[in-house]
Amino acid sequence: MLGGFFFCAMSCVCRLAVSALSFATMTLILGLETSCDETAAAVVRDGHRVLSNVVATQHELHEEYRGVVPEIASRAHIERLMPVVEAAMKEAGVTFAQLDAIAVGNRPGLIGSLLVGVSAAKALAWALDKPLLGIDHVRAHLHAAMLTDALADNATLDAARVLYPALGLVVSGGHTSLYHLRSTTDMPVIGRTIDDAIGEAYDKAAVILDLPYPGGPNLDVSLLDKDSLDFSFSGLKTALLYRVRGQPTGRGKDATFERSANDLTSDQRADLAAAFQLAAVKAVTAKLNRAMSQLTERGEQIHSLVIGGGVSANSALRVAVRDFADAHKLRLCLPAMAYCVDNAAMIAGLACEDFTAGRRDDLHLPTIATTSM
Ligand code: KG4
Ligand code: ZN
Repeated sequence: MLGGFFFCAMSCVCRLAVSALSFATMTLILGLETSCDETAAAVVRDGHRVLSNVVATQHELHEEYRGVVPEIASRAHIERLMPVVEAAMKEAGVTFAQLDAIAVGNRPGLIGSLLVGVSAAKALAWALDKPLLGIDHVRAHLHAAMLTDALADNATLDAARVLYPALGLVVSGGHTSLYHLRSTTDMPVIGRTIDDAIGEAYDKAAVILDLPYPGGPNLDVSLLDKDSLDFSFSGLKTALLYRVRGQPTGRGKDATFERSANDLTSDQRADLAAAFQLAAVKAVTAKLNRAMSQLTERGEQIHSLVIGGGVSANSALRVAVRDFADAHKLRLCLPAMAYCVDNAAMIAGLACEDFTAGRRDDLHLPTIATTSM
């Protein structure tokens, strides 16, 4: 009887000790993301374990304009952000008091949209008396591949980690950039688009083809001069335009075309879409090859290939980067589908690294339309 009580008391003490230990090492961050047309909130534990990831997309509001209308986006963020935050907290099963910090994407993006998230994050941090961290959205895309389920085991967490130094690629609606990732904080840009971002090119191609994207032509893409690591997608888009509509008469907005996408059969449109995709993906892998050669020629060791951004959801691109990583014996860090497009889990996850390193922002945190990297 007494032995039973002693065993029970000991196991309670042990359990308390274990929970105190895990509590001591646990960092819980609420992230907010409103840089473009997704209103998102997420709670992430220890930088990797996603307890909740709520995204309210505004696609239906911008569809008829075939592009994001900034004023509509800001207004929708105002209406949706607090319900999204409440849903993220409920799904995570944590209280505001348990949070260690509030993180927010404060650059780059549409200024009116960013301001909604940043103002809300400041209000929460102030009201809850919690630290505030502003996070670069593009840098956060490079953290997305390291996010796991809440209950992931240690082997899964280890396999998702980036081995530095690494080659990084962000392919989104606003960015197509290559990075030499020396560490989590030292990540110089080594190539970027000189015109349209790859996601923007996909979106415009879909408009030209009168398709829900992706769309595209059977044409090659400019690789710029022979050593350049920069990208150019506007030539590909224009080539598609001419292939679909024929040669224009007149210039600019007065141009008239021989035909429209509606004059093509659905097979012709599907062929052009597939060819556009092939050319766009080929442009990306050509630059990855070039970057690897240049870095290894300089004696740099590269251990991982880290991909992020909305276009990393593209099936052809996912296959191509997997083949590239295999050929170069690199660990491939590719986000799960849910973390490719804009989300707040990547904001909260990256914030944990900065938080652990001691970085803090205050209520003067600026909102910046351009990227810092
Ligand atoms: O990262 P993201 O959500 O927003 C920005 O930071 O820009 O990327 C959005 C872009 C859009 O251009 C969208 O068309 C593109 O990602 N995207 C895709 C796919 N899913 C999203 N592009 C090609 N294939 C996809 N499956
Ligand atoms: Zn993004």
